[in-house]
Amino acid sequence: MPLALQFARSGVPVLGLDIDAEKCARLNAGESYIKHIPGAEVARARAGGLLEAATDFSRVREADSIIICVPTPLTKYREPDMAHVFGTGESLAPHLQKGQLVVLESTTYPATTDTDLRAILERGSGLVAGRDFHLAFSPEREDPGNPDSSVKRVPKIVGGLTPACLAKATACYARAVERVVPVSSCRVAEAAKLLENIFRSVNIALVNELKVVYAAMGIDIWEVIEAAKTKPFGFMAFYPGPGLGGHCIPIDPFYLTWKAREYGQNTRFIELAGEVNTGMPEYVVRRVADALNDQGKALKGARILLLGLAYKPNVEDDRESPSYVLMRLLEEKGARVDYHDPHVPVIRLTREHPQYAGRRSVPVTPEGFDLALIATAHDEYRRLDFANWKIPLVDTRNCVAQRPASYYRA
Ligand SMILES: NC(=O)c1ccc[n+]([C@@H]2O[C@H](COP(=O)([O-])OP(=O)(O)OC[C@H]3O[C@@H](n4cnc5c(N)ncnc54)[C@H](O)[C@@H]3O)[C@@H](O)[C@H]2O)c1
Repeated sequence: MPLALQFARSGVPVLGLDIDAEKCARLNAGESYIKHIPGAEVARARAGGLLEAATDFSRVREADSIIICVPTPLTKYREPDMAHVFGTGESLAPHLQKGQLVVLESTTYPATTDTDLRAILERGSGLVAGRDFHLAFSPEREDPGNPDSSVKRVPKIVGGLTPACLAKATACYARAVERVVPVSSCRVAEAAKLLENIFRSVNIALVNELKVVYAAMGIDIWEVIEAAKTKPFGFMAFYPGPGLGGHCIPIDPFYLTWKAREYGQNTRFIELAGEVNTGMPEYVVRRVADALNDQGKALKGARILLLGLAYKPNVEDDRESPSYVLMRLLEEKGARVDYHDPHVPVIRLTREHPQYAGRRSVPVTPEGFDLALIATAHDEYRRLDFANWKIPLVDTRNCVAQRPASYYRA
């Protein structure tokens, strides 16, 4: 949707195809279905006749360029789940026309575009990529909730199957974004996106490990990072937390791990970072147990207020959120967990944690609770005065200014 709106803002008419009829209906009604994207922007694009949504894939024929931005999750065996990308390829192939451009934007392993997607498109259309139609890869670089990340300003990496494919894709994006960064192949573009995400995963794991080590030494990792950050070169700050969340950083690196096996290669940094990051919720639970212990209480039977369900501040996105792991671990130990999140009033039904569906956000109050645990640094918690709270507060985000007497970092 952000890309569609940016094209529309640039005067390029966009037809959005989705398998979700409800999303299409909302877009066509001039509404946004993503909280941080204002409905007014959708309404403006609709009013200008520059945006339309549909579920009928035969309308692919109407487009000059077809951009695929569908999910790339992991299967339960933690292997790439390419069903959405390949399914989309199969749906659009019969309608592909000579001269059209197809760009994949979904994060994926190198060679997806020029091997797997290419084969699906060629088989279903009878056309040849690079000769009859253009094929390219250009990674999505969204940072939801970050006001400095606009589709227009974030440079767009593009790799094409042939020089002509690259030229066509570059020209397409140049109509909507300020800077296109051409690279020599689809594989380089795919690999660049993975590098960006692996870089984050590894660096977050590093500070998570240091958090635990320094805590044992009585040193505050947050103060350490603030100090290190003053170095004007060769350092970039990453922050610890209760574990990785979102649908990119915990998942995408394993696309490379899977593909690397085909070449007999190991991805030790990725595995190690995954191990450290997925161990964080258990560390937090131990800290919660310590905090309760200081009050003469046990985890079993404790009532815990979990603050923040979204995986990052000020958004409603709860995909892969470590808050769900915390809830599960705490409840397995016999605690009762209620949550508050100003952006997630009710938990929707998901495949990963169906047991929480329908649970509702409760008010932020210490009454009736034995401990509060902050999992997301929503602005609301930064502003809240916890100074008079009589229960212990465990803060995994260093986001509390007015602290209660019993304050713990985790
Ligand atoms: N959202 C981000 O911040 C972000 C950032 C960088 C990269 N990415 C990557 O972009 C890709 C898409 O992510 P997203 O967050 O937009 O996903 P998403 O889950 O929001 O899905 C995008 C849309 O695809 C639709 N869809 C699913 N299967 C489909 C199919 N077979 N045919 C047509 N439509 C289908 C969904 O209904 C949804 O509207 C992923 O590979 C992700 O890793 C996302």
